Amino acid sequence: MLNAEIGFLGFLLLTVALLVAVAWTGFKAKRKIHIPLVFVTVASLGMAIRYALLVGPHYDLESAGVITPIHMFIARATTAAYLVPVITGIRTLKDPSFKRWHRKAAFLVIGLTLMAAVTGVAMLSLADRIPQ
Ligand code: HEM
Repeated sequence: MLNAEIGFLGFLLLTVALLVAVAWTGFKAKRKIHIPLVFVTVASLGMAIRYALLVGPHYDLESAGVITPIHMFIARATTAAYLVPVITGIRTLKDPSFKRWHRKAAFLVIGLTLMAAVTGVAMLSLADRIPQ
């Protein structure tokens, strides 16, 4: 059980750190690092979600109250929102004038990821643990 929690927290922190590195390399126009880092970040997000699904059944998430549906909505919206910087990033490669839209998409995804992380931690700390 604790392994799943550690895995989840580890991949969540790794995803946030990688996202900062993606934004940093984007601003520095280091495309050769920026684009491969995006793939690593999405893989890390996938692992964080995989572990979150393992942690979930060990908690009575409904006991956390209104934060649970709020977090679930933000978490799903964030996952879907990762498509926006990917699409605008590919457009930016073809047409540099798209860069300002790509930057807005990047901030949207970073903001949503932080909101998902904060509401997720709040949800788990408020929820009752189910003794195994
Ligand atoms: C989570 C995904 C991504 C984030 C958070 C992100 C973030 C950023 C940021 C903050 C910039 C700087 C924008 C500016 O200077 O105004 C940037 C630039 C750029 N990004 Fe991304 N990006 C992501 C995905 C991608 C993808 C998938 C591609 C292409 C396949 C891409 C291609 C580019 C390009 C070509 C630039 C311009 C670099 C230059 O100035 O030469 N990005 N990105």
